[in-house]
Amino acid sequence: MPPKFDPKDPAVAPLIALFESLGLSTPKAVEAAKAPKTAAALKEIIISQHLEGKRLDEKRAALIVSLAGVGAKLGQEEKAYAVRKVEEGKLERADQLAAAVKYLELHRNAIDDAEFDRECGVGVVVTPEEVKRLVLLYLSANASEIEGWQSFSATLMKLKATPELRWAPTLDVKNSTEAAFLEKFGPKVAVNPKDVKKTAGAPKVAPASTAEASSSTAVTTERSVFEEGFLGKLHKPGGNPQINPKLKEQHLKATGGEVWTRFPPEPNGFLHIGHSKAIFVNFGYAAHHGGRCYLRYDDTNPEAEEQQYFDSILAMVRWLGYEPWKITYSSDYFQKLYDLAVELIKRDKAYVCHCSAEQIFADRGGEERGPRRACEHRSRPIEESLAEFEGMRDGKYKPGEATLRMKQDLEDGNPMMWDIVAYRVLNAPHHRTGTTWRIYPTYDFTHCLCDSFENISHSLCTTEFILSRESYEWLCDALEVYKPRQSEYGRLNLQGTVMSKRKILKLVKEGHVNGWDDPRLYTLIALRRRGVPPGAIISFVSGLGVSTSPSNIQTARFEQAVRQYLENTAPRLMMVLKPLKVTLENVPEDRIIMIEKPLHPKVPELGTSVVPFTRTLYIDADDFRLEDSKDYFRLAPGKTVGLFQAPAPITCTKYRTDPTTGEVVELFCNLEESNSTSKKPKAFIQWVADHPASGSPVRIDETRVFHQLFKSDDPAATDDFIADLNASSLEVVKGALLEVGFWSLAKKAMVDARKESEARLKTAATAGSEPTKEASPNGAPHDGHNEPVASVAQLVGNECIRFQGLRVGYFAVDKDAKLGCLTEEDTAAPGARPGDVVILNRIVSLKEDSAKKAS
Ligand SMILES: *[C@@H]1O[C@H](CO)[C@@H](O)[C@H](O)[C@H]1NC(C)=O
Ligand SMILES: *[C@@H]1O[C@H](CO)[C@@H](O)[C@H](O)[C@H]1NC(C)=O
Ligand SMILES: *[C@@H]1O[C@H](CO)[C@@H](O)[C@H](O)[C@H]1NC(C)=O
Ligand SMILES: *[C@@H]1O[C@H](CO)[C@@H](O)[C@H](O)[C@H]1NC(C)=O
Ligand SMILES: *[C@@H]1O[C@H](CO)[C@@H](O)[C@H](O)[C@H]1NC(C)=O
Repeated sequence: MPPKFDPKDPAVAPLIALFESLGLSTPKAVEAAKAPKTAAALKEIIISQHLEGKRLDEKRAALIVSLAGVGAKLGQEEKAYAVRKVEEGKLERADQLAAAVKYLELHRNAIDDAEFDRECGVGVVVTPEEVKRLVLLYLSANASEIEGWQSFSATLMKLKATPELRWAPTLDVKNSTEAAFLEKFGPKVAVNPKDVKKTAGAPKVAPASTAEASSSTAVTTERSVFEEGFLGKLHKPGGNPQINPKLKEQHLKATGGEVWTRFPPEPNGFLHIGHSKAIFVNFGYAAHHGGRCYLRYDDTNPEAEEQQYFDSILAMVRWLGYEPWKITYSSDYFQKLYDLAVELIKRDKAYVCHCSAEQIFADRGGEERGPRRACEHRSRPIEESLAEFEGMRDGKYKPGEATLRMKQDLEDGNPMMWDIVAYRVLNAPHHRTGTTWRIYPTYDFTHCLCDSFENISHSLCTTEFILSRESYEWLCDALEVYKPRQSEYGRLNLQGTVMSKRKILKLVKEGHVNGWDDPRLYTLIALRRRGVPPGAIISFVSGLGVSTSPSNIQTARFEQAVRQYLENTAPRLMMVLKPLKVTLENVPEDRIIMIEKPLHPKVPELGTSVVPFTRTLYIDADDFRLEDSKDYFRLAPGKTVGLFQAPAPITCTKYRTDPTTGEVVELFCNLEESNSTSKKPKAFIQWVADHPASGSPVRIDETRVFHQLFKSDDPAATDDFIADLNASSLEVVKGALLEVGFWSLAKKAMVDARKESEARLKTAATAGSEPTKEASPNGAPHDGHNEPVASVAQLVGNECIRFQGLRVGYFAVDKDAKLGCLTEEDTAAPGARPGDVVILNRIVSLKEDSAKKAS
């Protein structure tokens, strides 16, 4: 029987003290001292490496203990090397230490720092987002091997064995894999071995029926939208045919078989709700498959571009919750495009043409769509076109005097094959390239080639571009470059509003709306200002699905989606739009009850607010009537009504009117606290108490209620959309009152939103410079064009303060509001400040028809 271990034993006490001096906690030191072998090895390394009294942090000290064990066979020099790496924080985890020992055993006296770092994952940081992406990518590429939860452990091991995830935190990998399995296969159920036998080899369970899918949650529809229907049928990366098989090989080598997409807006206007579909499809499809999505500004039309559009587009992409992998510009490729245009001429597949626009139109069959004619320039010698193209570039021609046209196929049935223009003279300075260029490539020349340069696997666009697909493919093949596959889905049109840039500009210019972000518009900046949560937009778009037919949706349906989204996410506050004073005559002046009430009846996580209840209250004027009727359950003379969360119902005993207008200006009521005979009220109404000491009520300077901007359901189709404007679409209510819980809610919403976006921007910053597979092993960043990441202000504004005004509607704080406490320290007490201006926007009403009913 071994002798009992006693830490006070004079033989072990010094050992424990030594281990403590290394940095181990007392229990850990005792534990190490207990095992004679470990103790001896640890003592040896502490003495030989001069670690006594170093008091390393716990993590480092624990690694030294490990090193004493696994590194026992190392020579002193190698041990010293490993210890130094631990002390410097280069080796941070047990798996790295194990790799280090293995390396050092094999490379005695020949340690190469760079090689060591690589072998041991030194400095490799794989963020949780990157882990998630890599896991999704793996699962998407290897879907056929993964049967369901029974493959979980095997999959996890294989994932950890991939070079990209080898040094990622195991827990993150596990978490991401679990989440992905959960989404793919549903919750893990205890499997009955008998069932496994039955289903093994049988076809996989069919996806949920459409009926089920449409009734299920947003999560389910978001999944199925990428795996079923239009998006589910897209080719696998590399599945797009190439004119030369080598191009496919090179492409797959460059992308590693990932899905690469792009969102390519023209920076010549503000994005509107229709664009949110393109953003969702491109960013969402790539993310779903663990791929990448570029934001590429298609800036080939210098005359229409302004910095504010560039900024706003990026802000909106981020606001919707996506982060571009890289931000690029078509203009990045101007030289490359020019060189390819020259190459195209050399291949006798383009020519410089001097025909006027009218002549070209006529040669293309004119109004009567007659036969096409080749113009005299089509057959000019290659040398001549080369010289003239140079001439175009060097300023020999004014706009309209010369164009470069592709030599396609005039007999083709597709007008996009009738020698469309590749380059034109514009003589306009460009936002990014200044006066370098006088000629600019057209969309048709630029788009497919930029897709090609960026190795786009899926070029997703709307069906207006179907005819362009032929010229897209023609050009890539003519130049023998990688040819992405363009696939077209139906666009999202919103009816009941106008979305064309020209029309909105007219509304803005003529003052029918207050700017491009007027909340009655459907630009994304307007929806944001109105308070529509980005998640509601994504869930709306995802719920509509993606197919080849366009979605023509009424604004009412959009609002319904927003309402549904807010229902269980927005906290609820008591708000009185049109205050009517109530004096509770049986409540003494000095009686104050503080009531703590939930911010949402069904979502306790949203927390509570505390409001005072006093002798003087305000209720909404609409909740009182002089004439009673059978189906009316709110307040009238002699009638009782419940007050949300109040100690008791109230009964109206009398009222006072304004002598001149006859309007009811005050009610006198009794609080029915001790009346056991009074029945349970049939209705409850909201209220706010007058109690200046606790800041109640909050006075709202302006509440902006938005109605349909147009009278007809389809203003875009009317001849004169200005005549269709409803002059009273903006209703401004002054002097509404809000419970005092508003302040802490507002402060919390702001602080949370800021924290969240700070974290996001930090990840974005790391992701922007993170080495990819193609990057050199020494970790040099790829040549991405990611701009410095923008400020939190880009993501967070007043609109993130959203709530339901109980029984009134959903509201958000407008950007014009000034709430002093929000700009102070995070820890400053929420509340009113001198100079505050409270302005609310109604996001949506509570019910679809309430706007009509209320009027
Ligand atoms: C698919 O699985 C194999 C084997 O585990 C792995 O090497 C490969 O990287 C996986 N594919 C992707 C795209 O992750
Ligand atoms: C993993 O998931 C669990 C539960 O879902 C969570 O508590 C934990 O924080 C997650 N860990 C990481 C590293 O994300
Ligand atoms: C695209 O792929 C080609 C090989 O086909 C490669 O040379 C190029 O660097 C890749 N470009 C990008 C932006 O990934
Ligand atoms: C109690 O309530 C009933 C019904 O509302 C009313 O008729 C009665 O006058 C009340 N009694 C007192 C003492 O307030
Ligand atoms: C114009 O807007 C007001 C306020 O919403 C509404 O009451 C009225 O019905 C609208 N008029 C038309 C013609 O739609």
